[in-house]
Amino acid sequence: MKLKIAVLPGDGIGPEIMKQGVAVVNAIADKFNHEVEFVYALCGADAIDKVGDPFPDDTFTVCKNADAVLFAAVGDPKYDNNPTAKVRPEQGLLAMRKKLGLFANIRPVQTFKCLVHKSPLKDEIVSGADFICIRELTGGMYFGEKYQDDDKAYDTNMYTRPEVERILKVAFEYAMRRRKHLTVVDKANVLASSRLWRQVAKEMEASYPEVTTDYMFVDNAAMRMLVEPTFFDVMVTENTFGDILTDEGSCISGSMGLLPSASTGESTPVFEPVHGSWPQAAGKNIANPLAQILSAAMMFEYFGLKEEGSLIRKAVDASLDACVRTPEIQVEGGAAYGTSEVGQWIVDYLQRL
Ligand code: IPM
Ligand code: MN
Repeated sequence: MKLKIAVLPGDGIGPEIMKQGVAVVNAIADKFNHEVEFVYALCGADAIDKVGDPFPDDTFTVCKNADAVLFAAVGDPKYDNNPTAKVRPEQGLLAMRKKLGLFANIRPVQTFKCLVHKSPLKDEIVSGADFICIRELTGGMYFGEKYQDDDKAYDTNMYTRPEVERILKVAFEYAMRRRKHLTVVDKANVLASSRLWRQVAKEMEASYPEVTTDYMFVDNAAMRMLVEPTFFDVMVTENTFGDILTDEGSCISGSMGLLPSASTGESTPVFEPVHGSWPQAAGKNIANPLAQILSAAMMFEYFGLKEEGSLIRKAVDASLDACVRTPEIQVEGGAAYGTSEVGQWIVDYLQRL
């Protein structure tokens, strides 16, 4: 297969983990005779510094013309601590999602057997947890009308029926391919937008009679994820709730550094880790590259290249079993492996197979 991949390393640890992601894609391409072309483009604080725009038009064009985007992370503390900043790195990520119409963000939450003890939750609670959070990505408060002055500020949580229908369709279809259990997460006891979600979901249930659909308030879902994460198979929710719940989900896997995601919709799909740019770790070679590498696995799988995806997953499992791990998931007394050592080990493993 011929694949043109836009590479957006972004900020903080982004460039380091991306390097490993690209190396793994290259190793897989060599093995399976795929022709891969990488086109690098600017985004985030890096792009603001260089061209004054967190998602420049040139980057948009590169993404539009690619088959897939590999994205790492954006964000820089110099903007976080400045409430009056006119332009922020995160706007670049949001602009990319909006301009590419990436309304469906697929965030799998899984456990790795050898890392179960790394979760702050009890082993018996997280063991076997395996669900997908489908987060709506181009609507809700992130994009609704906003206002801010010194005395008043608001963000509008607006959803239209077509926006709700299309994301629920994705969720029902995922449920059909999995254990046929869908949980619609909302706050319908308080929010009008949630009541629309619930109404539309109830109407759509009839088209998916094999799927068991249940409805859960987001506060309750946040708790259920901690006391019984194995309850969930596919969960679907709006943009803001999905953002919050998927960070919580990382506590089930044991590290933010393990969660990949795919954002799909109307144009080029984007594959990106769930974690952020972790600026404090930038350049220290300590960030976990696995979320980026697993995002590359999701990319191959998206193109129907299942074997490629599962080989990457096998290599990741092998690295964990061999205790070739970055510090946050290393066993006590285990050797210290950096971002590049973990990536290199995985590449070597793939080449040996
Ligand atoms: C995420 C991130 C982003 C979001 C930020 C960086 C804008 O937290 O992808 O989850 O809130 O969507
Ligand atoms: Mn987030």
